[in-house]
Amino acid sequence: MTKIPYSKAPLSFIGQKRNFIKAFRHVINANIIGDGEGWTVVDVFGGSGLLAHNAKHLLPKATVVYNDFDGYVDRLNYIEDTERLRQQIYSAIEHLPRQKALSQNDKEVVIGIIKSFDGFIDVHSVANWLLFSGKQVRTLDELYSNTFYNTVRRSPYEQATGYLDGLVVTTESYTTLMARYKDQPKTLFLLDPPYLYTGQGAYNQEKYFAMVDFLYLMSLTRPPYIFFSSTKSELMDYLDYLKQLNNDDWQKLGGFERVTIQAHVNHERAYEDNMIYRF
Ligand SMILES: C[S@@+](CC[C@H](N)C(=O)[O-])C[C@H]1O[C@@H](n2cnc3c(N)ncnc32)[C@H](O)[C@@H]1O
Repeated sequence: MTKIPYSKAPLSFIGQKRNFIKAFRHVINANIIGDGEGWTVVDVFGGSGLLAHNAKHLLPKATVVYNDFDGYVDRLNYIEDTERLRQQIYSAIEHLPRQKALSQNDKEVVIGIIKSFDGFIDVHSVANWLLFSGKQVRTLDELYSNTFYNTVRRSPYEQATGYLDGLVVTTESYTTLMARYKDQPKTLFLLDPPYLYTGQGAYNQEKYFAMVDFLYLMSLTRPPYIFFSSTKSELMDYLDYLKQLNNDDWQKLGGFERVTIQAHVNHERAYEDNMIYRF
């Protein structure tokens, strides 16, 4: 059964824009006509590639660049191994209560399965099955140092058929990528950087994406763009500040439209996610 276009990434990815997919498709359809002929779309902070995949589906004649900074394409290529490992772990702890922490003995059994596994180990998927609510790690050693929970996904993974079709995959920093495309006409930037002041431990970057990275990113940004941010980050505050200054940067970046979604951390805590765009 074909799932194209995907509304969520085939393998887990923290920060994937599944909640914005409908609004994103709407904005693309409303602003680019003719199957995207003559257009280039650059998904600068590609993550799971969900935005690039959807853009390519809606604009089959456009060139769509998916900047895979995290090796997500590798994870997809080994999805069969990931499913095999999931089945092994799932069968070993199926009889235990779900959502509960594993005893030291049961944890050792799971670690034994992982250590003797003869294929690719996707540490992000394994963390998603075994660690507490979205906790992320980068290495197996880090994984083993945590308490394990019985939250292994029950449904099998399917091949990500067609997910990467037609995409131009790159792996480079936003600095060089955006500099290359910045002055090209009919080139849309999709900008979903790591949010300032939030956990970035799930990503492959060597250092925290911090204020200077953000400011440098803003210096490379120009319309047409679609930019994602949340109230946990400071994009909207920064844009308000530019508006007050009313300088060239505001002329370049202001005048955008905005879609807001309320996201919930839990029953008590909510924050706002934003997608702003200007064509
Ligand atoms: C919020 S996530 C993007 C999620 C993506 N839009 C999706 O739907 O899956 C931010 C991404 O930026 C990547 N990133 C971090 N530093 C980067 C850099 N210097 N250049 C390019 N990408 C970077 C992270 O590794 C992560 O994949």
